[in-house]
Amino acid sequence: MPGPFDIPLAALRQRTSAKWTTYGVDVLPLPVAEMDVRLADPVARVLHEAVDRSDTGYAGDPGPVRRAFAAFADRRWGWPVSAEDVRTCPDVAAGVMAVLRVLTRPGDGVVVMPPVYPPFFAWVRTVGATPVEVPLTGVDGGGRIDLAGVERALAAGTRVVLLCHPHNPTGAVHPAADLVELAALADRFGATVLSDEIHAPLAHPGSGFRPFLTLGAAAERTGVAFGSASKAWNLAGLKCALVTAGSGRRDVLEALPPELGWAVGQFGQLAARAAFDEGEAWLDEVVAGLVRNADLLGELLLRHLPGVRSPRPAAGYLAWLDCRALGLGDDPAQVFLDRAGVALHHGPDFGAQGAGWARINVGCPPDLLTEAVRRMAAAVAGRSLTPPVGVDHAG
Ligand SMILES: Cc1ncc(COP(=O)(O)O)c(C=O)c1O
Repeated sequence: MPGPFDIPLAALRQRTSAKWTTYGVDVLPLPVAEMDVRLADPVARVLHEAVDRSDTGYAGDPGPVRRAFAAFADRRWGWPVSAEDVRTCPDVAAGVMAVLRVLTRPGDGVVVMPPVYPPFFAWVRTVGATPVEVPLTGVDGGGRIDLAGVERALAAGTRVVLLCHPHNPTGAVHPAADLVELAALADRFGATVLSDEIHAPLAHPGSGFRPFLTLGAAAERTGVAFGSASKAWNLAGLKCALVTAGSGRRDVLEALPPELGWAVGQFGQLAARAAFDEGEAWLDEVVAGLVRNADLLGELLLRHLPGVRSPRPAAGYLAWLDCRALGLGDDPAQVFLDRAGVALHHGPDFGAQGAGWARINVGCPPDLLTEAVRRMAAAVAGRSLTPPVGVDHAG
């Protein structure tokens, strides 16, 4: 039986998704947050069945996917979420912006914690609010929430905190004690914490991941969480995500516009339900593969690019590369693209703290990761790989 990552490069090159069409055929694409996996069988089956029925209308009753998510959350994290407190939305981006529209007025501040997933800044600005940056501390080790900084922002009048948990780009899982304190702060100031937990199903074993809304009464009073099957089961193009309110923030769900549910994709809803209900064995295989790839990345860097440091991700398939010692300037990803034919995500897009850093996606076949680091090392050593060679060795 082939594993989820057993896909030859030639087959990946047939894909038409953003990851595989943004760059030329000579480039190994490791920026966009999609995985190079085969679909989980239960997911593939429901999609094939829907195609066979020509069942391509609007998404139907969201009840089954809400219940499937609630049951998954209970099994996986001991989170007894009520399906009544869950709403569907097309994706986390749309869900967060809809909630921000409920909670903010133009010009209001929203705490973001750079270096962070670049659209966080864009989402806040799109709704007319203003990002209030409270950078993570200790990013070399994955990054911790600057609780004193958040307190200052709340004391100055900010009333929404946009949390990335697990954190993109470092893969850090925030310790429960920090989140409890964050919830207490939010509670004290009457603020709301929006916890983007899209990468949560991919938390690595032993990471200690705990959903924000499981962390006590203050979190229940102040939290709204965003979940999805899209990262973990690689369904980002199908458009279905979930907003869950803590018991104290049900008013937020009530205020969401009905159009949000209508924008959900029929295939996304069917696939997410199958993933949550029947896709956990596949998920565990993928997580095991990601842990192996994170180990492999560490070994490859040590062997070929010892000047690059990277905090070990505790979740997901993204890793944050500190390339500052290489002297490649603020945007090493551009240098690796130009000189090595390896596409990484540009560090400065994640905030000023990203200067000299780049983000790599290890959700790919191990051969491809090996080839990418080999090319990056060759480029740094001054052995020009333009035009890149050996592209099709990976896979
Ligand atoms: C933290 C985080 N939130 C949201 C998204 C985007 O999710 P969606 O496609 O559901 O909007 C991503 C995608 O990489 C992400 O990393």
